[in-house]
Amino acid sequence: MRIDVFTLFPEWFEWFSSQRHVRNALERGSELRRFHYRETTPLTGGQVDDAPYGGGAGMVLRVDVVDAALRAAYEPGGESPRVILLAPSGRRLDDALATELAAESHLALLCGRYEGVDERVREHLADDAISIGPYVLSGGELAAMVVADTVIRKLPGALGHADSAIEESFSDALEGAPEYPHYTRPATYRDWSVPDVLLSGDHERVRRWRSEESRRRGA
Ligand SMILES: C[S@@+](CC[C@H](N)C(=O)[O-])C[C@H]1O[C@@H](n2cnc3c(N)ncnc32)[C@H](O)[C@@H]1O
Repeated sequence: MRIDVFTLFPEWFEWFSSQRHVRNALERGSELRRFHYRETTPLTGGQVDDAPYGGGAGMVLRVDVVDAALRAAYEPGGESPRVILLAPSGRRLDDALATELAAESHLALLCGRYEGVDERVREHLADDAISIGPYVLSGGELAAMVVADTVIRKLPGALGHADSAIEESFSDALEGAPEYPHYTRPATYRDWSVPDVLLSGDHERVRRWRSEESRRRGA
């Protein structure tokens, strides 16, 4: 899996790249590359944005700037990633979409800033627009990290325990429901006790209890 992030703040991804599960994925051959819009902008003085046609507050990331960044990264006729624009109005990210993205070999994540991105990016350059939720962030960087994180944890070897990403909240293994509760030692803390079933050693009862709890949480 190769994930390319196009951004005005590539340094934000240094911290992300240094996290254990991301490092695991990178050590196993995945790649996380960063592209700075300003380094390939065709405009002078590093300009990347402009005032919106029709007036209004804020600046808009220009389509020619995004196009130039993509053209500089990918040769015509060469590799072509699935290009995703991060946008509050995009398709809502969920586990099914994360699984779909994890099956791709190459993603390009376009981070917006300011008032947003010229709509022609979505119309002509991006394959998808994805939202991480119904709220507005200051830029696409955190959204790109959320997308990359949920995708990377689905890659083989990213997590310490391979099963962790199989049976977790919203997965097919739990029929789309949230995960069941977890407990660990001590068995009693103050007067808060772990459910008896988890201490019973009866794997079938534990399995049934977890499945019921998961369904109850999802109801
Ligand atoms: C300040 S926001 C623009 C908000 C835009 N004016 C609106 O009202 O929808 C700047 C950039 O942050 C990113 N962004 C903000 N919220 C997001 C979300 N919920 N999901 C994905 N990307 C988001 C997008 O890339 C967006 O272009």
